[in-house]
Amino acid sequence: MGKAMFKLVIGLVVGGGLWFTAKAMGFPPVYQWAFFSYAAVGTVVFLLLDIPSMKPQSGWGAALSVLLFFGLLCVGYGAGASLLPQFDPEDEKGKNAKVLGSAKSGNPLDPWKADEVIQRTKELDEKVKELEARIKALGSGSAPVAQPGGAAPVTASVPAPGGASGGDLLKVGEEQWQLQECYNCHKLRGDGGKKRGPELDNIGTYLTIEEIKQKIFDPKSFMAEGFEKEWEKGRMPDKFKDVMSDSEMIALATWLHSFAGKNPSVITPKPIKKK
Ligand code: HEC
Repeated sequence: MGKAMFKLVIGLVVGGGLWFTAKAMGFPPVYQWAFFSYAAVGTVVFLLLDIPSMKPQSGWGAALSVLLFFGLLCVGYGAGASLLPQFDPEDEKGKNAKVLGSAKSGNPLDPWKADEVIQRTKELDEKVKELEARIKALGSGSAPVAQPGGAAPVTASVPAPGGASGGDLLKVGEEQWQLQECYNCHKLRGDGGKKRGPELDNIGTYLTIEEIKQKIFDPKSFMAEGFEKEWEKGRMPDKFKDVMSDSEMIALATWLHSFAGKNPSVITPKPIKKK
């Protein structure tokens, strides 16, 4: 009996050690208990070693004992496993539908990222307003305008392309390209599905930023030459004006425009004005 006690204590110490080590290493509680239970099972095996051996059996009796032993194991495992959470195909189907659903609605974003984008969009809105104010100030040749809200007066200089503000505009444009999944239908810089739409690298050689924006706003406004069927069927979605702000469309158009001539070998079909 003393020997059994000793083994039990060793088992508890080892099990506790594993439990705490797992905890210290940041394992979730389930794993802590799993490690502890391994030690417990080991202890039971060591305790069983001390049980006096059975009388040797032979013949039908022996065969029956073996069958009974395996029968008990089967029932034990089966019952144990049935207590654990079960795989439910309906559950998986539901998850898939959710993922597909959000991809279809064009919004594969998780809520955190969406917040981030909204924040960036707001910042961009401010930037565009500031730019517009600068351009106005330039056009009228008037003195620098003071910003509403008490911001420092803006000097009457248009930022160089690639400058701080211009760079941000382009960044937001690129974000919109990803966000609105234009790449699903359009190839750009050799990337993206050219599934249904033309390659857009050189769109800026035909259209101004304002015109590209118009095409995004109203896909019926221009038609890519050679894509008559697609244009008639309205393959390019007519939804961007509903899901994008004006400044986002401008940012995207500016970004697209900036590729003009960088890759002269790419053939972007000529847009034909329709409206
Ligand atoms: C579901 C597919 C699809 C998506 C998504 C899509 N487009 Fe298109 N787009 C087309 C097709 C097809 C055409 C050619 C027919 C036409 O001009 O409408 C086209 C044409 C264009 C053209 C004119 C190209 C030319 O050479 O005249 C521009 C610019 C354009 N798309 C920009 C965009 C932008 C920017 C986005 C993302 C906001 C976008 N498209 C999303 C299918 C798509």
